[in-house]
Amino acid sequence: MDLTTIQSLEAQYLFPTYARVPLLLERGKGPYVFASDGKRYLDFITGIGVNALGHAHPRILKVIRDQSKKIIHTSNVYYNEFQGVLAQRLTALAGMERAFFTVSGAEAAEGALKVARSLAQKISPEKIELVALHNAFHGRTMGALSVTGQTKYRAPFGPLLPGVRFVPANDQAALAAAVNANTCAIILEPVQGEGGIFELTPDYLATAARLAREAQATLIIDEIQCGLGRTGKPFAFQWTDLVPDIVITAKPIASGYPLGVIMARGTAATALTSGTHGTTFGGGPLACRIALEVLDILESPGMYERILETGALLKAGMTKLARRHKFVKEVRGKGLMLGMELDRPAAPVFNRMVELGLLANVTHDTIIRMLPPYIIEPKHAKKALGILGKALTAI
Ligand SMILES: Cc1ncc(COP(=O)(O)O)c(C=O)c1O
Repeated sequence: MDLTTIQSLEAQYLFPTYARVPLLLERGKGPYVFASDGKRYLDFITGIGVNALGHAHPRILKVIRDQSKKIIHTSNVYYNEFQGVLAQRLTALAGMERAFFTVSGAEAAEGALKVARSLAQKISPEKIELVALHNAFHGRTMGALSVTGQTKYRAPFGPLLPGVRFVPANDQAALAAAVNANTCAIILEPVQGEGGIFELTPDYLATAARLAREAQATLIIDEIQCGLGRTGKPFAFQWTDLVPDIVITAKPIASGYPLGVIMARGTAATALTSGTHGTTFGGGPLACRIALEVLDILESPGMYERILETGALLKAGMTKLARRHKFVKEVRGKGLMLGMELDRPAAPVFNRMVELGLLANVTHDTIIRMLPPYIIEPKHAKKALGILGKALTAI
């Protein structure tokens, strides 16, 4: 089916929620995707950080083939072979104790808020306040949306959860003023993704942990976008000494097969007891088997170093380009999570990037976000920089 037919079907039959780039992606291989226009594109957005091992990774294809012949779905009424061992591996990686598997990032954020609520309710019925950051993004379901610090996403759907306080990132005094005895949880992304690639400082994270501890509140760390190798460590909070109560992650965990996870330690790890939470699809055998393979690949020698090296190359090149163009305000990010903020709408640059064969995306109108796959080589980074350099002249 051609793109025009697909577009007219979607225009008639889909909820009109997405403003898609007019490209029909048909196939992917490594860091490239191939579209119906016959062109090859360097994929530096990877389905928003999901295809972190690139497309059609042979080891991922093999486990999908093997496992789908055996069993794909069991529900959580029965055991499957892989959930326990995946929980063991992931919690060891995150310094957590127990896990609950979900199907999406928002579902993980939602469950984390339920854990926090259930702990707070044991202390006081008034302990329902949530502290989150301006520009935060935690998902589109009602709870996750309630702590998403962008009015445009929340406004049409009120009333949302009561008692949410939004504070500016990296402002310790504002955070201290927002946390009190009625605080149920503080939720933070160590590197804000959708918000525009903003990193929280180690001091800020340490203060958040101290305030949460003093207020008997749960500290939830959202690593849905910045986790699982994206910044060159298993989890971005591990660049600091932070010990969260809950860590949530999702996007790259099963290489495109839907899976998310809530991990917790201490009282948070046992707060949700039999029958108090559940999900039909989360943690199915195929998803978990793929995730185990993803972890093996992620943990193979040299992977984190490679992420850091190509990330540094890319960031240095972007910084050099920024010096050449006065309208570039800042280049930010860590590892392979990078952003370039312009002082004006980035759409013309983005459109030119696509024309020249590089996929990324624009967040907050002015920020070009790049989440390249971990498997890129220096030649791919150089090619992307060449395209970005040309595209920046489109303004
Ligand atoms: C930090 C963060 N949290 C939560 C979510 C929501 O995840 P999902 O879209 O899988 O529901 C996202 C998605 O972009 C995210 O970046």
